[in-house]
Amino acid sequence: MHDSECIGIFMKKTNTFYITTPIYYVTAKPHLGSLYSTLLADVLGRWHHINGADIFFLTGTDEHGQKIQHAAMQARKDPQVFVDDFIPAYKDAWHLYEIAFSKFMRTTSTEHRKGVQYFIQKLMDKGDIYKDFYNGWYCTPCETFVTERDQENLAEGPLCPSCRRATVRIEEETYFFKLSGYQNKLLQFYADNPHFIVPQERSHEVLSFIKSGLKDLSISRTTVSWGVPFPHSTEHTIYVWVEALCNYITAIGYGDTQRVDEFEKWWPANIHILGKDIIKFHGVFWPALLMAANVPLPKQLLVHGWIKVDKQKMSKSLGNVIDPITLAQTYGVDQVRYYLCRQMPINQDGDFSIKDLEERIVSDLAHDLGNLLNRILKLAEKYEAIGVQAPALWDHEVLELRDYTWNTIEQFSEHMNAMHIHLALGALWKCIHKINAYFHTKEPWKQAKQSKESFLMTMSAACHGLRTIAILCWPVMPSKMTELLMALGIRYIPSEKTIQDLNLDVWNHYFEFKHRAPLFDISSIEERKIQEEIMNNQSLKQEYKHMELTTSQQAHIDIKDLIKVELVIGTIIVCDEVKGSSKLYRLEVDCGKYGIRQILSGVRSSFQPGDLIGKQATFVLNLEPRVMMGFESRGMMLVAENEAGKVELIMPEHVVLNGSRLR
Ligand code: MSP
Repeated sequence: MHDSECIGIFMKKTNTFYITTPIYYVTAKPHLGSLYSTLLADVLGRWHHINGADIFFLTGTDEHGQKIQHAAMQARKDPQVFVDDFIPAYKDAWHLYEIAFSKFMRTTSTEHRKGVQYFIQKLMDKGDIYKDFYNGWYCTPCETFVTERDQENLAEGPLCPSCRRATVRIEEETYFFKLSGYQNKLLQFYADNPHFIVPQERSHEVLSFIKSGLKDLSISRTTVSWGVPFPHSTEHTIYVWVEALCNYITAIGYGDTQRVDEFEKWWPANIHILGKDIIKFHGVFWPALLMAANVPLPKQLLVHGWIKVDKQKMSKSLGNVIDPITLAQTYGVDQVRYYLCRQMPINQDGDFSIKDLEERIVSDLAHDLGNLLNRILKLAEKYEAIGVQAPALWDHEVLELRDYTWNTIEQFSEHMNAMHIHLALGALWKCIHKINAYFHTKEPWKQAKQSKESFLMTMSAACHGLRTIAILCWPVMPSKMTELLMALGIRYIPSEKTIQDLNLDVWNHYFEFKHRAPLFDISSIEERKIQEEIMNNQSLKQEYKHMELTTSQQAHIDIKDLIKVELVIGTIIVCDEVKGSSKLYRLEVDCGKYGIRQILSGVRSSFQPGDLIGKQATFVLNLEPRVMMGFESRGMMLVAENEAGKVELIMPEHVVLNGSRLR
């Protein structure tokens, strides 16, 4: 039998990789924190898949316990109906985010209930369980017993040391697990396995908890009916945390004589992923329980920090809970996946902000990566290159670029294997900058006219670089990278040999160009920025109004201040609609001695292009230039609003010389 043998006796096949997420409490829909744990598992699972491993990726829901019992009661629903109602929200969110889980485990499933009871029976057989009386405090939101040392003699009851919420007093008969008997074994285990917890600095908390003395753990409740019945008892249900932890083994057939092979194939798990708040359960209770049941311990725990929103903890009361669905609908699934992996260092809390998300999308994705593909495709189209063959010999600059790309594969792999996804992406983006710099210095748009051979070499080198980038980045952005490869004529099917092949790649591929829209569309982000600008203008308008009312009280300005502003008359010679914006025109303005200026103006609702072309108007020319929807605006057109809210141009009564300064 699989569970009757000693720790370490399992002959786990080296090419299997079993990864798990915490199972989520179904009292709310998934939020950004739950997405984060799940996404990390997905990215690492995909990474190990393209490195040749057979993957089992487990996620699911934690559906029993007092907290859920209360929530169901408040919702006036039967607990089973209550939990069932939440499942689609989880499954839909994970499908939307392309989370490639192998199994979605529910703790209300029969296989789980049976497996857990079997597990508890093992502990009973071992003599590690006894019945006694528990008299102490309990934190329902965390489903945790608050130990004496946390109580600080507070007569009213202590706050939960983890979530700082009020605890409740419980006094009931309970079964205890002899956790105290595992203190030394756990210390020995940590001494022998210093890399069990990643990042290693998180082990300190666990070790100091163990060293401060382990008390026996209450593992049953008589006052909670919504749970798995304790073996041989009609009154006790199994403590929800013990039951929930067991999902990692019950999902793969623990306790089922029909599924011994399956269990032996996958267990021990390679990685349990969890947030820092639940490290005690995974780093102390779970290993001790497994030791007691003679089941081998998982290989590693990956403990991630918390996502905060604008430096604050996400919470319903602060109203700052981020809905991953809205986020994906606004910014795109792969864009959010990339941002979470790139922005959040695994070993720290990370701050989520829309501003950072938008900046990453615009600069890393659209500008650095998307533009490179765009430029290649545009040039191919312009110079009628259907495809590009690798040349017989690469020049030394390409060989250098290829070396750099090979080194990137190595660095990327090291970081990914150490589960430092943000560092892996950092290394990848350095490589993208390198390819961009190469492409830019080669000036293929000039080469195309001078030497077809050099032009094709540059194009081919850039395509080879992009191919490597896309394959490495596939675990993070599976759809976008598949699309990128498709634009280069590659039908990408991630296989167990992908990275091995990439390591042996000598850059001899043929690329066939498939023209497409930009890979990362940022028009909605740009549009929103303009809206913001307009909002700012609204407040500017308010300010103008305020100034009008209070002119007499305004401090005078010096004439020197006024002449600092370059107010100039110019003639509008071109007026185009800006694609993707409903407000903007792109104007070309003849400003006489100041030259022809490109100026963007948000006056589309007041004018047709024909109303503007050929007209003179007033412009401020020395405003800080700024980029909107991909166009640089080098000035501002002045307008005045009429009573109907339509804007009018400020024009001289008779035509004057373009470039005349106002005075
Ligand atoms: N049900 C338990 C886990 C049992 S595992 C056997 C639980 N559930 S939870 O839904 O509250 O949390 C699940 C995971 O989400 C935890 O790893 C937690 O750290 C993570 N996150 C919840 N909010 C988070 C953030 N704001 N940021 C990052 N992750 C956080 O605990």
